[in-house]
Amino acid sequence: MKLTEEEKQLLISAKDESVWYSICDDIKNRRNGIYPNYLSREVYQIYQNKFPIDKYKEWALLDSQLTRKAFLNWLSVGWLAFAAATGGFFTAMIRYLFPNVLFEPPQSFKIGFPDNFEAGKVDLRFKKSHNVWIVRDDEKIIALSTVCTHLGCTPNWLETDRKFKCPCHGSGFRSSGINFEGPAPRPLERYRIVLANDGQILVDKTKKFNYEKGEWGRSESFLKV
Ligand code: FES
Repeated sequence: MKLTEEEKQLLISAKDESVWYSICDDIKNRRNGIYPNYLSREVYQIYQNKFPIDKYKEWALLDSQLTRKAFLNWLSVGWLAFAAATGGFFTAMIRYLFPNVLFEPPQSFKIGFPDNFEAGKVDLRFKKSHNVWIVRDDEKIIALSTVCTHLGCTPNWLETDRKFKCPCHGSGFRSSGINFEGPAPRPLERYRIVLANDGQILVDKTKKFNYEKGEWGRSESFLKV
């Protein structure tokens, strides 16, 4: 038995799927619980018209979600790349504006009071930090450069031999700085040395005194004690 007109209208007017299925149960019960094939085809036709399964619509929705997600992912990647590039650019700019600075010890520095230096001694305390030897004899204190006048190596003070000996080519210098052996063509250089206002010795490496130019006699080439 086909659907009656009343059953059709009931199905057509079902407001949602739960109502729909309860109507279907009623229809089935009216036929002793049997739901023949032809009936199910008729019901299914009404069902399809009423509740179309728009899978393409769902797919489209899914696609748009995926597209949106992919777009957001690409956007994130794009932003990260942009941030990295910008960061690199600014790092390069900062490095350009503030290049690596080579910190050198000050050229002018105090080394303490004259009494801190023993007569007849070569003081090695400032060799490493300032490349200077401080030498005191009975009359004066001098500041000697630690740079060998041959090719620029750093000689060593040999207390037993009372000389500076250059390890590179064997030049030898007296404690006064005078060269006396090896290839060094001239004595070691002396630096300006004066007393500061507080009574400490001030060494000033910006001013050099060369023996061969007759400068060792100048007042600030040594400190009288
Ligand atoms: S550099 Fe000192 S002897 Fe050559």
